[in-house]
Amino acid sequence: MAEHWLVSGANRGIGRELARRVAARGDHVTASVRNEAVCARLAPEVAHFGAGFSTLVFDVRDETAIGAAARDVALPLDVLVCNAGVAGPQRQSPLDMDFEGALDTFSVNTLGPLRLVQAFLPALRQAKNPRIVIVSSILGSMARGASMHIVYCASKAALNKMAQGLAAELRPEGITAVALHPGWVRTDMGGADADLSVEESVAGIIAAIDGLTLSSSGRFLDYLNKDAPW
Ligand SMILES: NC(=O)c1ccc[n+]([C@@H]2O[C@H](COP(=O)([O-])OP(=O)(O)OC[C@H]3O[C@@H](n4cnc5c(N)ncnc54)[C@H](OP(=O)(O)O)[C@@H]3O)[C@@H](O)[C@H]2O)c1
Repeated sequence: MAEHWLVSGANRGIGRELARRVAARGDHVTASVRNEAVCARLAPEVAHFGAGFSTLVFDVRDETAIGAAARDVALPLDVLVCNAGVAGPQRQSPLDMDFEGALDTFSVNTLGPLRLVQAFLPALRQAKNPRIVIVSSILGSMARGASMHIVYCASKAALNKMAQGLAAELRPEGITAVALHPGWVRTDMGGADADLSVEESVAGIIAAIDGLTLSSSGRFLDYLNKDAPW
């Protein structure tokens, strides 16, 4: 039975590959992008997959736009992948901080996924096995002591805590929520030296999501479906 997946930040990188792969196997994909101009870049997918590939436009910082988009989404929604994210400002040392840029990073990376979950919860509630995948990063792990990219790392550490909270809150309803580290991936964000191609990462992510049940809820997984350190 075909499922319906919503992927945020689906115009490039991990999100785009994920949206393509899921649509290619016959599931319905709603690909969300930041604005209309960016949306035009998904014309090849819209043409190729037809009715199996829809788009929604919202910036993940814009609660009103997300709410409006959620009213247009096809029902039910089986899988919500909160993927959109940013690397943060140029100046993000603990001793030399672009505070406005830091706040913006938290708004995208930490609060963006919560805005999505809250808006799309009614659509998820109509699915048989609703799953929420919060794309996080091992760089948010408290087990790491490095100070590089501290705003990005802190935004993902806080996101992990949010994912735990979501899992606890939604478990009684039978809704699964996990944080997921996609690996170090060759995208605009990951850079050319990263370990994994987007294809390798996304193949693992899809397998991990396909296998998710309520018993996994609250875990921090990696793209190989192994537990990542909090
Ligand atoms: N690549 C890695 O090695 C790696 C490792 C660990 C975790 N991750 C996480 O994986 C996710 C995807 O990363 P990626 O490597 O694919 O990054 P990417 O290539 O830089 O793509 C980021 C995506 O997020 C979207 N986005 C950013 N800010 C947004 C906003 N305010 N509203 C809506 N969309 C927004 C971008 O849209 P625009 O094109 O409009 O900017 C783009 O589609 C992120 O959450 C990232 O933190 C990546």
